[in-house]
Amino acid sequence: MSILAILFLLVISTAAEAQRRPSNITLGSSLTATSNTTWSSPSGVYAFGFFPQHDNSYAVGIFLPDKTVVWTANRDSGPTVPDDVISLLLSPEGRLILRRRQGQDEDVISPSATIASASMLDNGNFVLYDSNSRIIWQSFDSPTNTLLPGQRLQPGKELFSSASESDYGRGIFRLKMQTDGNLLQYPINAPDAAPYAYYASDTFRAGSSVSLNLDSDGRLYLLNGSLPLQNISNGGFPTQGSINLMRLDVGGIFRIYSLSLGNLTMTRRWSSTDDECVPKGICGVNSFCILMDNAPECQCLPGFVSFQSGNNTAGCSRTISAQGCPKTDNRLKYDMRRVENTEWEDNSYEILDKMTSKEECSKACLDDCNCEAAFFKDSQCRKQKLPLRFGRRSLGNSNMALIRFGTNTVVPDIGGDSDRKRIVKKKQRIDILIIGIVLMSIGVLALSISVVFFHKKLKDYDRSKILSGRTRRVCFENSEEERGPAAVLAD
Ligand SMILES: *[C@@H]1O[C@H](CO)[C@@H](O)[C@H](O)[C@H]1NC(C)=O
Ligand SMILES: *[C@@H]1O[C@H](CO)[C@@H](O)[C@H](O)[C@H]1NC(C)=O
Ligand SMILES: *[C@@H]1O[C@H](CO)[C@@H](O)[C@H](O)[C@H]1NC(C)=O
Ligand SMILES: *[C@@H]1O[C@H](CO)[C@@H](O)[C@H](O)[C@H]1NC(C)=O
Ligand SMILES: *[C@@H]1O[C@H](CO)[C@@H](O)[C@H](O)[C@H]1NC(C)=O
Ligand SMILES: *[C@@H]1O[C@H](CO)[C@@H](O)[C@H](O)[C@H]1NC(C)=O
Repeated sequence: MSILAILFLLVISTAAEAQRRPSNITLGSSLTATSNTTWSSPSGVYAFGFFPQHDNSYAVGIFLPDKTVVWTANRDSGPTVPDDVISLLLSPEGRLILRRRQGQDEDVISPSATIASASMLDNGNFVLYDSNSRIIWQSFDSPTNTLLPGQRLQPGKELFSSASESDYGRGIFRLKMQTDGNLLQYPINAPDAAPYAYYASDTFRAGSSVSLNLDSDGRLYLLNGSLPLQNISNGGFPTQGSINLMRLDVGGIFRIYSLSLGNLTMTRRWSSTDDECVPKGICGVNSFCILMDNAPECQCLPGFVSFQSGNNTAGCSRTISAQGCPKTDNRLKYDMRRVENTEWEDNSYEILDKMTSKEECSKACLDDCNCEAAFFKDSQCRKQKLPLRFGRRSLGNSNMALIRFGTNTVVPDIGGDSDRKRIVKKKQRIDILIIGIVLMSIGVLALSISVVFFHKKLKDYDRSKILSGRTRRVCFENSEEERGPAAVLAD
C-alpha cells in the first residue's frame, strides 16, 4: 500500500520534473505545435503554449494540466493559428511571434516595449519583462474568459465568453466591472444599459475604484479600493491540491470551478444563476428560451421556423408573411396566437392602458397595420414590431405575448429578412416561368401534330371528293393550317 503510494508519488514527481522548464524564458526560446513542449510554471501546473482547438487547429494560450484554457491569445482577431506556423518564438529582437513558413511573422502579444525575457508564474500569470526586469505586459491584466485566484478584474474591464467549447474566440456574453462600481452582465452587442443587463451586483453607488477579485478558496468578491464591498460567492472550497477558478461560460453564466490536480477532475462549485435561460441572447430573435430538464432550449414563436436549424442564436423567421393589413390583401387572414408567461425586450411603440382582456389587446393589434405582436399584462397592451428579442419563459411573469399569425396564404414563404424573401419570390417566379414555357411548348407541339394529322385527313377526304367528281374543290392549298377546320365547317 505505502510502497504503491511512494511509487505513485515518484511517477507524478518525475512526470512533473520532465515537464518543468526554467521559469525565465529567454530570447531565442521557441515552441512548436506538434511537439508537446510548453513554457510551464515552476510547479508545472500552468503552461503557456499551443493548445488544440476545433478542426485540428491550434491556438496559443495558458492552460492547466487537464487542458482547461485560462487565457487565450489574439482572441478578437481569431485565435486560430495559421496552418503554416512553424514555431512560437521569443525572437532575439524581443518580440513574441508566430514564425510562419511563408507569411509574415505574427505578434502573439504586442507590449509597448521590447521584450527582454518572459516568465510563466506559479499563480498562472504570464509576464513579459523589459531589460530592466520591469513588467511590460501580464496576462492577469488582459483576462479573456477566466479569473484566477489573485487575479483582479479592474474597473472598466470585462470578461467575454468563448464562442463555443472548442472555439476560444470571442463569444456573445460579457461580464463588466463598470466604473460606477457595478458588476454587470450584458449580451455582447448591447450597450451598457439597464434594459440589457441580466446580472447586476447592485453596487452602482460605490464609485470608480471597485474591482472584482477571486480568492484561492473560490470566494469571489468586490473591493472598493482596498476595502471589502460585497461577497458574490462565499468560497470555502478546498485549496490543497486544487485550483479554484472563475469562468464566464459559453452560455453566459459565470461559475466557480475546482480542478483537482490529483485526478484532474473539474467540479462545478457555484453559478451566478441556476437558470440557464437568464442570459439575454441565449436564444436568437423571435424565439424564446424554455428549460427542459434544466437545459435551455429555444422555441420559435408560433408561425416561425428556425432560421438555421441547430443554431439557437440564429433565431427564427416567419413561415408566412404577416405584414400589411387584411384589408389590403384579402387572401391573407390574420389572428393572434398566444405565448403565455414569457418576458421579452420591450420596444413598444404604443401602450394602451385599461385593456380589459387579451382579446381586446389582440383586436387592437390586428386593427393596426404596423402591429406585429403585442404584450398583454396588468391591463396594459404594448404594441410591438418584430423582431422580438431576449425571450424566455418565466412562470412567475403573467406577461402574455400575442403574435400576429397569418393563415390561408397564397405564397408559402420561408423567408425571414426581406432580401431572402425577394430571392425566394424571384426563384418562384422563375420556376413559374419555366413551367409555363414547358407547358406552352407541349401545347404548340400537340397542336402542330394534330393540325398536320388533320390536314392529311382533309386532303384524303378532298381527293376522294375530286375522285367522285360530285362537289367543287375546297381551297386548302394556300390557307394556313389553323384555318383548316374552320374552312371545313364553313363548307
Ligand atoms: C532572465 O534571464 C536573463 C538572462 O539570464 C536575466 O538577465 C534576467 O534578469 C532574468 N529575468 C528574470 C525576470 O529573472
Ligand atoms: C502529446 O501528448 C498527448 C497527450 O499526452 C499525446 O496523446 C500525444 O501523442 C503527444 N504528442 C507528441 C507529438 O508527443
Ligand atoms: C467606496 O470608496 C469611496 C472612496 O474611498 C467612498 O467615497 C465610498 O463611500 C465607498 N463606497 C462604499 C459603498 O463603500
Ligand atoms: C465576505 O466573506 C468573508 C470570508 O468569508 C467574510 O469574512 C466577510 O465578512 C464577508 N463580507 C461580507 C460583506 O459579507
Ligand atoms: C478527485 O479527487 C478529489 C480530491 O482531491 C476528490 O474529492 C474527488 O472525488 C475525486 N474525483 C474523482 C472522480 O475521483
Ligand atoms: C449561428 O448564428 C449566429 C447568428 O446568425 C452566427 O453568428 C453563428 O456563426 C452561427 N453559428 C454557427 C455554428 O453556424
